[in-house]
Amino acid sequence: MIQESVTIILPTYKEADSLPSLIDKIEQIKKASIKQLKLIIVDDDSQDGTIDFIENLNKPWITLFTRTEDRGLSSAVIHGLDQCDSEFCIVMDADGSHPPDTIPSMVEALQNGADFAVGSRYVQGGSTQDGWGILRWVNSKIATIMARPFTNVKDPMSGFLGFRLETYHQADELNPIGYKIGLELIVKCGCKNVIEVPIHFKTRKYGHSKLTFKVQWEYFHHVLRLVRYTHPKLVSFCSFGIVGLSGAAIYVLLLSLTTQIIASKQLAIITAIWLTMTWNFYWDRRLAFWNARSRPLFMQYLGFVVVCAIPVIVNFYLTNSLSEENAIQYAGLIGVVVGSAVGIVFNFLMSKFFVFGN
Ligand code: GDD
Ligand code: MN
Repeated sequence: MIQESVTIILPTYKEADSLPSLIDKIEQIKKASIKQLKLIIVDDDSQDGTIDFIENLNKPWITLFTRTEDRGLSSAVIHGLDQCDSEFCIVMDADGSHPPDTIPSMVEALQNGADFAVGSRYVQGGSTQDGWGILRWVNSKIATIMARPFTNVKDPMSGFLGFRLETYHQADELNPIGYKIGLELIVKCGCKNVIEVPIHFKTRKYGHSKLTFKVQWEYFHHVLRLVRYTHPKLVSFCSFGIVGLSGAAIYVLLLSLTTQIIASKQLAIITAIWLTMTWNFYWDRRLAFWNARSRPLFMQYLGFVVVCAIPVIVNFYLTNSLSEENAIQYAGLIGVVVGSAVGIVFNFLMSKFFVFGN
């Protein structure tokens, strides 16, 4: 018998058909091995009878939250965790894919010192019920590979999770975007000792999966955010470099245009430089200095322009003088490359500390 208290968090969206048998199984565990077991269901206004069903059950250890404003699996889980007051938390799917029998072993693993427990399909003894289409399988594999830089867990995509409430409270700012709250928690709570408990992942009997294309796209964003979180400097500098490269290409293209439209060559060059600078500003602000929200946009823009002065002058001078004897695109390319080379480290540091810094 497990003495400590455990709360199971169940995010649900249109799972009314699956709930009865799942709650039965959970109740058996409550009787047999975890006396202080509670259940928190966070439903996103499914309107499928979930509310009536839970109300009629009338079990004091089950609490249902119906959200009408927020949506989404991860934010539902976080909503549930914020209401939790037990020592241990378990998060699982409501569709019957995750076997509740595994819960006691997950809690025991945590009692024995694990930071985090994952119900895993991909460790010895784990399995997935046949009938997963090739597409879903490939999908899951790709997503798992993308998670590799952050954790060695074999099944980081699992939504069957266990941890101490204390661990959750230690998490750095969570970003409940998308589906992969497990991966998010493992990274943001700094969990080192993750135990994978084998499970047999069953195909749901009722309803259907909510893993849409949008959800997969969100996962891609999620992974990018996590790289920013774990390697902020590297990501910032690389993004700055890539934006710079894109700016060089844009500049050469713009020169072809402006020199055709504007009669004065110098004015054409200046216009191309100014537009390129604005392009770089926009993307640097989004991609390289994503946390920079401390100064008003206009001040940042002004600072950026000032910082660009040296490379801009170099670039202007080279483009202008080389174009006497060469094609404007060629002159522009040399100008922008030399200008950027002169400026890259200086500009990056100035942008970082002066323009987008605090
Ligand atoms: N409250 C709420 N809001 N719950 C949601 C939402 C939502 O927007 N979207 C999904 N859920 C609930 C579902 O009702 C279900 O209980 C659970 O979240 C998982 O959703 P499924 O739609 O069943 O996901 P899946 O089967 O495609 O994905 C499963 O496999 C993945 C690994 O391949 C889940 O177990 C994932 O957690 C897991 O990562
Ligand atoms: Mn499912």
